[in-house]
Amino acid sequence: MTRITVTVDGQRFVDDVEPRTLLVSYLRENLGKVGTVVGCDTSNCGACTVHLDGRSVKSCNVLAVQADGHEVTTIEGISTAGGLHPMQQAFHECHALQCGYCTPGMIMQAIDILTDNPDPSEEEIRAGLEGNLCRCTGYHNIVKAVAQCAAAGKGGE
Ligand code: FES
Ligand code: FES
Repeated sequence: MTRITVTVDGQRFVDDVEPRTLLVSYLRENLGKVGTVVGCDTSNCGACTVHLDGRSVKSCNVLAVQADGHEVTTIEGISTAGGLHPMQQAFHECHALQCGYCTPGMIMQAIDILTDNPDPSEEEIRAGLEGNLCRCTGYHNIVKAVAQCAAAGKGGE
């Protein structure tokens, strides 16, 4: 076991984990952060996307020990005192989900896109989301939601 200290959604945790424990497993099984989901476990689908020190990572592709001393934000940590994060609100308003399985990762990746580029073109949004798969929506409304959030000037963290 290895002791790690990690801040998740603003709260500090100290835990002993197996060195092989994936960050997504630690978040879900140790901390109960089940808003972060597993779609493939092979770093293809992006459903498990979280932020590590403010940048998106696929948490099935990161070891919990690699988060030691760092800050993780999950979909459960982005809402504000006033309610939904603007990106969550935009997904809601644009009907950018159907089953919702991809949505947590999609939103975390969308925020990351706007952190880098607050005014992306449609092509840049699509390129930024290429590592996140959705089997339901055809992506159109997801791209629309990201564009709407960008246009409102409220996208990145
Ligand atoms: S579960 Fe991590 S990329 Fe699919
Ligand atoms: S809404 Fe079902 S996978 Fe994207």
